[in-house]
Parts: sequence; C-alpha cells; structure tokens
Amino acid sequence: MKVPFVDLKIQYNLLKKEIDGAIQSVIDRTAFIQGEEVKTFEQNFAKHYGVKNCIGVANGTDALYISMKMLGIGPGDEVITVANSWISTAEAIVQTGAKPVFVDIDEYATIDASKIEEYINEKTIAIIPVHLYGQPADMKVIKELAEKHNLYLIEDCAQAHFAEFEGKKVGTFGDVATFSFYPGKNLGAYGDAGAIITNDDELAIKMRMYANHGAIKKHQHLMEGINSRLDSIQAAILNVKLPYLSQWNEMRLKNASYYDDILEGIGDIITPIVRKNVTHIYHVYCIRTQHRDELKTFLETNGIETAIHYPVALPFMEAFSNLNYRPDEFPGTVSIQDQILSLPMYPELKVDMMNYVADTIKLFFIQKKQ
Ligand SMILES: Cc1ncc(COP(=O)(O)O)c(C=O)c1O
Repeated sequence: MKVPFVDLKIQYNLLKKEIDGAIQSVIDRTAFIQGEEVKTFEQNFAKHYGVKNCIGVANGTDALYISMKMLGIGPGDEVITVANSWISTAEAIVQTGAKPVFVDIDEYATIDASKIEEYINEKTIAIIPVHLYGQPADMKVIKELAEKHNLYLIEDCAQAHFAEFEGKKVGTFGDVATFSFYPGKNLGAYGDAGAIITNDDELAIKMRMYANHGAIKKHQHLMEGINSRLDSIQAAILNVKLPYLSQWNEMRLKNASYYDDILEGIGDIITPIVRKNVTHIYHVYCIRTQHRDELKTFLETNGIETAIHYPVALPFMEAFSNLNYRPDEFPGTVSIQDQILSLPMYPELKVDMMNYVADTIKLFFIQKKQ
C-alpha cells in the first residue's frame, strides 16, 4: 500500500467544479490583481476570526515581514521567538534588521512561555509565538508577558488556521496574526498566498499600503513599499475552500485521535502531547522515537511518506550561525531534534492507511528486537 504524506488531489476532485469555475471567472474578467475575490476573501476570513481587518498578502513569510515593518520593528530591536519553527519566522525578523532571540520549546513543542521573561531586556520589542503543527502556544502566559513588558505580540498562525486556546481562536490574542496558505496548509491555495489579521485599523491601512508599493490608491505612493498582494486566482480558490475548513480540521482531529489509539504502546513511540484546553488542528501529526532515521527509511521502503518538522532547529541553521547560539541553551529543542517524525496527515486519510502505518511501525520494532 502507498500512503502519501499529503494528498491535495482529493479535495480538488471533490471541489473541482467550484474551483475550476472560480478560476475561470477571474480569467473571464481578467481581474487578476486586487479583484473582487480578494476583497471577498479578506471580509470572510476577518468575519471567521471576529476581527476588524484582514489583509491578503503574497505569502506567510511576507505577512510576518510586513507586520513587523509596519509596527516599526528594525535595527537595534530584539524579537523573541521559538527555537523550533519553519525558517520564515526567524528570516522575517532578520529582514527587518532586528535580531531574533530564540527561546527553547516546552513539552508541547511550542515556545516555553515560562522561559520567555529571562530573555526580555530593554531592546526587546516583540514576541512571536508559533502555533507549531497546529497546536496553540500558551497564549495566557505569553499575552500577560507582552502586556507586562509593553511588547508587541505577533502570532504566527501559518500552521494553525482556526486552532483554539481556551475556546478562543489563536490569532486573536495579539496585535497582529499572520497566516500562510501554502498548498499543504489546512487552508491551502494553489500557489503561494498569505494574510494578516488585526483589530488595529491604522496599522491595517499601513500594512495594506506597504504590501502594495506604499499606495492605497494607484500612483499615490505615500511610503516606500513592496509588492506583496494576494493573487486574485488564489483568493478565488481560498473562497471556495474556506467554508470547508472547520470540517477538514475536524477530520484531521479524528484521524489524530485514531493514530493516538493505534500507536499506543508500539516500541518507544511518543504520540503528540496536547496542551489542556486547546483545539489542536493537526496541520502536522508529529511522533517521537529514538530510532527516527531508521524508522523513516523503513516506512519509505514500505511505501509510507513521512517528513521532519524540522531537521535543524533555527538557532543551529547555517543562516543564523553568526548569532553563535549553543546547543546547551536549548535542551528541549536539542532533545527532540533527532526524534521527531511527521506521519501522513490530511483530512481524507483512510483508516486502512493509518492501520497500515501503525502495522508497519510495529513490524519495524519487531524486526529491531530480533
Ligand atoms: C510556522 C510558519 N511560519 C511561516 C511560514 C511561511 O509561510 P509561506 O510559506 O507562505 O511564506 C510557514 C510556512 O511554511 C510556517 O510553517
């Protein structure tokens, strides 16, 4: 049996008529840039979050960069974020001229909120928690710290569309939240796409302007900006998919709980540890084992695709070697780095596929013992 890591074709086949129609409609009207699809998506996405503003942008990395730039973050500033994330979180900080300050992870693989305060100094300007794998960071503690120290709070929700912390959607705790709609995300476009949400109207105008060459009206460039608009065709696709997001998240949750059951007690496998009072949306189902690399190869040989999120943590990436971070500063991150393995996860993943994944893992450990 073959089990792909994700299968984006299933949803396309399901929604083919609607998606093809939505794309064709943009083409028929040649409304490629800033068409009505973008406005519709921004309004609907903001409504789902109960926030005043959504700004569609080109991708989730730009969403972070634009947010920070328009909050005035730049050279001389320090921005606290988590040691284990996709490179964008740190990359965008560096692009503003600020310094990324990494904090170790907790048992839930999100930023260890209890350690953040020791990194706060007079240069600290913002905290960027990442709701990694779809699991919310400890927003109660993080929000209190941001308020206490008067810091901007930017939530990186690239992997956490509609995830909740204590019944409230993550992305609504901070000043700004950023999203990626990279195709494999829980809400994925058919190319690069992203968005920013905020309740701050003035900031929203600035961010919209900056993402559009510093102009709201054509040729009225009130500031220097960049070109990072949400593409109309991508917005059209997102409009078709958005109404299904909650249902798809529930299907992922169901799959995750099935995996939890069938993987229990196999070898040294540790299934995802979930924080109390959160809704994890399982963008990634990440297990841990001391035998990660061997198991990954074994699964691949047996037709099961897996991934690693991420093989090298941010402080140890060559790109950030100038910051001179040491492994002993991040014991939590270091301890899982060689153990994490992401199993196939998508809403339509079938029970027999998950059974096959669990049986193959079982076989791996049986053969290891012999
Ligand atoms: C945690 C995190 N932050 C930021 C991004 C950046 O998003 P994009 O790929 O749309 O630029 C991603 C996407 O992979 C991500 O997973």
